[in-house]
Parts: sequence; C-alpha cells; structure tokens
Amino acid sequence: MQENIKKLLIQQVNKELASAYLYLDMSKFYKTKSIEGFAHWFKKQASEELEHAEKFMDYLADNDIEYKFEPIEVLAKDYKNLKDPLLHQLEHEKYVTSLINEIYRLALEENNYPLVRFLNWFIDEQVEEEKTAKELLEKFEYVENCKMGLLKLDEQLKAR
Ligand SMILES: [Fe+2]
Ligand SMILES: [Fe+2]
Repeated sequence: MQENIKKLLIQQVNKELASAYLYLDMSKFYKTKSIEGFAHWFKKQASEELEHAEKFMDYLADNDIEYKFEPIEVLAKDYKNLKDPLLHQLEHEKYVTSLINEIYRLALEENNYPLVRFLNWFIDEQVEEEKTAKELLEKFEYVENCKMGLLKLDEQLKAR
C-alpha cells in the first residue's frame, strides 16, 4: 500500500473523531437551550462518528499499519441561532465525503480491491449522512417560524 494512502487512512481516524467532537458540541449547544430532541439527535450522531473512527482503526490494525493518535481539532463554531449547526453539519458531511472519495480514488488507482471493498461501506454511509443532514435542515426550515412546530419536531427527534 502506498504511503500516502496509509497517511490518509490514519488521518481519517482523526477526522471521524473530530466529527464526533463537533457533533457533541452541537448537542451541548441545543441542550443548553433546552432543545432536548436536537441535543439527543446530535449525541447519537456523535456515537456514529465514533463507530466510523473504530472501523478505520480496525482496518489499520488488521493491516498491521502502526500510527499514533494526533490531537483532535476543534471544529465547533459560535452558533448564532438554532439553524446554524444544521447548516454547518451539512457542509461538514460534504467535506467528509470529499475525504473518503479521495482515499477511494487512490485505492482504485493502485488496484487495491480489498481497500475498495472496505471503503464501499463509507461511500454508502456518506450518501446517507448527507441525505440525513439535508432532511433535518429542510424539516427545520418548514417549522422555522412556528414555535409549536419546532417543539413537535424536537419531540420527534427524541425517538432516534
Ligand atoms: Fe463519519
Ligand atoms: Fe458523518
């Protein structure tokens, strides 16, 4: 395996952990505003990101690739309103998709089919992640100016 692919796979562990950190921060933001459903939803989202990091860790271990953990970047922003994190989430997922796509491209380039198979799960997952982020943003936009609607959506998100 090319060194630059190894580097990107190791980096992806860090990126997934940074995503978890970002979504925990969003969860905290909603929680402090008593928007409990959104807070719960982003906490779940953070655990999914942790699972993604673990998948990459397993792949690296299975392929005897050694690495050290790097500091996790704080991607959190100062959110101005309840919609802000949702916009930021969609943007962030698109960024993560671009990272996965780049590793995929390199895996194809070196005819590394086991890695391609491993990454297929992430290709599908990113389609899902972008779709989910977009849907949540759109749902929010429907009820943006209606407090009752917002509380109802918040209730629904508790079920995740
Ligand atoms: Fe992820
Ligand atoms: Fe994600």
